[in-house]
Amino acid sequence: MVTVKLAPSILAADFGRLGEQVAEAEAAGADRIHVDVMDGHFVPNISIGVPVVRSLRKITRLPLETHLMIADAPRYLTAFAEAGSDTLIVHQEVVPHLHRAVQQIKQLGLRAGVAINPATPVGLLEDILDDLDLVLVMTVNPGFGGQEFIASTVTKIRRTRQLLEARRLPADLEVDGGIEPHTAPEAVVAGANVLVAGTAIFQQADGIAAAMQRLLRSCGTRTS
Ligand code: DX5
Ligand code: ZN
Repeated sequence: MVTVKLAPSILAADFGRLGEQVAEAEAAGADRIHVDVMDGHFVPNISIGVPVVRSLRKITRLPLETHLMIADAPRYLTAFAEAGSDTLIVHQEVVPHLHRAVQQIKQLGLRAGVAINPATPVGLLEDILDDLDLVLVMTVNPGFGGQEFIASTVTKIRRTRQLLEARRLPADLEVDGGIEPHTAPEAVVAGANVLVAGTAIFQQADGIAAAMQRLLRSCGTRTS
């Protein structure tokens, strides 16, 4: 049985009850909490920033992975590290000196991840792959929760898995966007081992724990 990790994305949570909902996800076996930071420049939406990471750090023991959908990510790495992030994910499309940014993240003592948009080929990560702890293949165009999974990204998930396997790299292969019980299995079969999910976890009538179980069951797995 494959072990798939769940990274609940708080973008879909009720921010008035954020602590409570994160605690619920933690109790239900979440592997990490995914924090979506948006700047209204790289993506057409604004979300949350450093203070929310700092507050989350106080209320959960889970690793916090911060997905930086912001134009000038290198400028904010230290601030997000000090706030309590465990992993920092930057976007290939907006960080020209990607090697430097990845080294900065590692020097801060954190796990380094790089995200690629649906139109960005994974081949662009070939020369940085060995340095990464996580590759995030976006399965929607970043900026909003609740979008539909883009099926053509499955081929890229498969190619990313092949690249990692060919070099025997242990990096996580994470997918983000439109991950629900009817799309997760495809992503997992293609090679994803971490599922980011917002709507499918935080906006279900039967609650967070039931939604997480449903997601895991859909891909024939359970929490580790
Ligand atoms: C999208 C964000 C995602 C988002 C996913 O730009 O990076 O993490 O929260 O939300 P769902 O699971 O609702 O597609
Ligand atoms: Zn995200």
